[in-house]
Amino acid sequence: MNKVVLITGASSGFGKATAERLSKHGYTVYGTSRKEMNDSNIHFIVMDVRERESVKKGVEKVVSESGRIDVLINNAGMGIGGSLELATEEEIDMQMGTNFGGCVNVCQAVLTIMRQQGGGQIINLSSIGGVMGLPYQGFYSASKFAIEGFSEALAAEVKGFGIKVSMVEPGDFATNFTARRLNSELTAKNSAYSASFARSLSLIEKEENGGLRPEKLAEKIEKIIECRKPKLRYVVANLEQKLSVLLKRILPGNMFVGILRNYYKV
Ligand SMILES: NC(=O)c1ccc[n+]([C@@H]2O[C@H](COP(=O)([O-])OP(=O)(O)OC[C@H]3O[C@@H](n4cnc5c(N)ncnc54)[C@H](OP(=O)(O)O)[C@@H]3O)[C@@H](O)[C@H]2O)c1
Repeated sequence: MNKVVLITGASSGFGKATAERLSKHGYTVYGTSRKEMNDSNIHFIVMDVRERESVKKGVEKVVSESGRIDVLINNAGMGIGGSLELATEEEIDMQMGTNFGGCVNVCQAVLTIMRQQGGGQIINLSSIGGVMGLPYQGFYSASKFAIEGFSEALAAEVKGFGIKVSMVEPGDFATNFTARRLNSELTAKNSAYSASFARSLSLIEKEENGGLRPEKLAEKIEKIIECRKPKLRYVVANLEQKLSVLLKRILPGNMFVGILRNYYKV
């Protein structure tokens, strides 16, 4: 029987590349977007991951059509750039509500189904920003650190039900993420952070735009699905960024902050 996979945020970037790859390889793929989408190979459903009712309806649709959900990939997400001091309440809600709240909403809706069917697999999109606090992407990092803590605890809670949980921690990839990033006007215009933010942001954008292709991540995700005993965490990044994750683990905290300040031209 073909595995049924639900991928949030399948209209673009990683989600799109993963949905296309899995559907080509025989999986039954359901993908979400906030807008109506049509595709001959992917079953699109309208879902805003921030809205619990929208999530509930979308998940019910998948189950009523396919009878089960074998794999959930929590991928929907976005980024906000700016200083932590000047982030507005609305920006913080948007960042945490989409990335972390969205992941929680969809997990909660799908876990009951996976438990009842006797197992399943959840793959949550974190980031190397979920391993280190990225300057001027602080609430983005906070949302991914939250996903890290949530997913680790979830893995412990649901292993006994036959549900496997993994996190993918990508480095820089060229997707629509960069163009869609919302940048804080309060930080950018006339603040104590403006000049340093401008330097950092141009570096961040340059690295993302020259980043790896999303198809590479899609290939990795398929391997994780096919692996009998998947790991809890997978770093998918270029060598330099993999090294930064290693340094984060071994260096004293303040020394690593110094490296971050220097690297991001803060
Ligand atoms: N690109 C990178 O370098 C990078 C690195 C590390 C981690 N990531 C993570 O990878 C994930 C995918 O990002 P991407 O790079 O593929 O970006 P992308 O090309 O901008 O795609 C983002 C996807 O998320 C969906 N989305 C956004 N807000 C949503 C909401 N409230 N409800 C439902 N769907 C929503 C979008 O769908 P609609 O707009 O159609 O609704 C879109 O399909 C994110 O979690 C991101 O944090 C990206």
